[in-house]
Amino acid sequence: MLWLFALAQALGQEPGSRRDVREFLGLGPAPDAAAAKKGDPLYGQNCSACHGVNARGAQGPSLVRSAVVLHDENDAEIGRVIRDGRPQGGMPAFPNLSKDDIHNLAQYLKLQIELAANRGTYNKTYGDLRNKVTGDAKKGEAFFAANCTQCHSATGDLAKIGAKFRQAAQLQSRFLWPAEKGPAQATVTTASGEMIRGTVRKMDDFEVSLTDSTGAYRWWPRDRVRVDTEDKLAGHRALLPKYSNADIHNLTAYLVTLR
Ligand code: HEC
Ligand code: HEC
Repeated sequence: MLWLFALAQALGQEPGSRRDVREFLGLGPAPDAAAAKKGDPLYGQNCSACHGVNARGAQGPSLVRSAVVLHDENDAEIGRVIRDGRPQGGMPAFPNLSKDDIHNLAQYLKLQIELAANRGTYNKTYGDLRNKVTGDAKKGEAFFAANCTQCHSATGDLAKIGAKFRQAAQLQSRFLWPAEKGPAQATVTTASGEMIRGTVRKMDDFEVSLTDSTGAYRWWPRDRVRVDTEDKLAGHRALLPKYSNADIHNLTAYLVTLR
């Protein structure tokens, strides 16, 4: 990683052609190399499974072409995507990453854009490995038995999962981050201590509304109540940092056999 650090420093300082590339790409100030270095392991642990090595994209989109990353200022845009996720689109939320973590990740991503731009590889298409299954199904089965069977069964709910998703890449992104089925459930606690559980109708910075168990519509100003949303996918969130790349490939190779 030392070369990366050195290159980043060069990029930040050299007045010539590299700066022109920055301007051409509409990039802001040069990334902070020290922060990017701290972001590197965070990226490897939390993001690379989906966004690929060097953020070039895998089943998640390439982040070196992302408008969100390119146009982010002061971590606001990137921060929102990382903290809130886009659960419907397959991007989990990471509410536990700190402001510093997000800053370091953002700098890491911006550095990847620089590196791609300056190697002249920015517009190259990266090989399409999306439907190639390279894992070891036997090892995948063992990983499944150790990590998945408290919630799933290969002869029950997932018995036909290999047939449901024709593309291995789809199946892979689905087990990494399943789509949430059905609307979110939440419990609202009022200032007087009343707790109302129901189906979320609307929730933003200003208001929250639910349909409660009797079917009645209830509404509160957001700052007057506590809201606890139920995280159905907590099990999957907990697994994300545990997978090695080999685990992911092995699991995919196993799951495609369930049909
Ligand atoms: C389980 C797979 C997965 C993981 C893990 C993941 N992402 Fe994503 N990410 C996605 C998908 C899929 C999208 C596209 C979602 C959409 O646009 O609806 C996305 C979108 C994004 C975007 C917005 C891209 C754009 O231009 O719209 C950013 C930024 C991003 N992810 C950053 C991260 C970072 C940083 C991490 C690690 C902290 C991370 N992601 C972890 C799957 C993942
Ligand atoms: C703590 C419980 C839990 C664990 C552990 C867990 N899952 Fe899940 N899984 C879920 C829930 C909940 C869903 C979403 C189902 C829903 O919303 O009805 C889901 C959905 C899925 C889906 C999507 C199914 C479909 O038809 O779209 C796949 C595939 C999957 N999980 C695979 C796995 C694998 C592989 C593992 C182990 C590496 C695993 N899960 C571990 C709870 C869990």
